[in-house]
Amino acid sequence: MIIVREIKKMQKISDEKRREGKIIGFVPTMGALHEGHLELIRTARKKTDFVVVSIFVNPIQFGPKEDYRDYPRDEEGDFEKCKREGVDCVFVPHVGEMYEENFSTYVEVEGLTEGLCGKYRPGHFRGVTTVVAKLFNIVRPHLAFFGWKDAQQLLVIKRMTRDLNFDIEVVGVETVREKDGLAMSSRNWYLNEGERKQAPYLYKALLYGKEIIEKGERNAEKLKEEIKKFISKNVPLGKIQYVEIVDIENLKPLKKIKGDIMIALAVFIGKARLIDNIRLKVHDRR
Ligand code: PAJ
Repeated sequence: MIIVREIKKMQKISDEKRREGKIIGFVPTMGALHEGHLELIRTARKKTDFVVVSIFVNPIQFGPKEDYRDYPRDEEGDFEKCKREGVDCVFVPHVGEMYEENFSTYVEVEGLTEGLCGKYRPGHFRGVTTVVAKLFNIVRPHLAFFGWKDAQQLLVIKRMTRDLNFDIEVVGVETVREKDGLAMSSRNWYLNEGERKQAPYLYKALLYGKEIIEKGERNAEKLKEEIKKFISKNVPLGKIQYVEIVDIENLKPLKKIKGDIMIALAVFIGKARLIDNIRLKVHDRR
């Protein structure tokens, strides 16, 4: 496994692999790798010849009051996990080379970034799309893998890739969960014992919402209220940021639950801001 820290060197390696006719698969991460990341890597391993994983805690996607400094970092552990999964190359750029003095060019996707997390994390998606565009230009993959756990991010990256004509296929990978249903996340690391016990109820709240829809509820406002009540009852340590029912195509909130929809939520439990979602096809009964 090659460990690369310089941008030019990474570009050179990718160019060589392309010339050899290899299909390059890319998994961008912020490290502190867990089973969710490893699932993306395994999918990339199956579909491509040369797997590149980037590890970069991207400062420009964190707000001034967010957890950039405290974000978990474990470079050696991450390298071990990548080796075990048969990763070919780990790209670990220096922040100073990614953002040189007077860095002033950003990529912004409009519309899709306005709701859900975008509403509460101004500038976050601009930071994500900017770094991913840079990484795409550095790693030059044929396929790039992103998790449905961060559904809005996945859809925003797909839109950016299409709109800017990156010749890359963006592949979505299903959310990996702990046995009790909690979506794997580097931020679960922040949870203490009591908080960890309540965290699985976020996924249970989504399943509860699904059940209510299956029983015939089509009013999004009512469904949201039911889900919020469920969370207040079962996650007393939680502070709800949002519960939304949106159209999966444009991420706009729905009044009437119909078609391809997503129930998405963001809840603070202690210091950890946890997000989760489920996607459903809802057929009209009448
Ligand atoms: P990070 O949070 O490290 O996540 C890296 C990738 O792993 C993302 O595509 C994310 O959706 C996926 N992922 C995380 N938890 C998952 C889970 N439980 N199941 C499936 N996939 C999961 O997302 C980022 O980093 C950054 O924003 C990044 C795209 C690297 C840009 O900086």
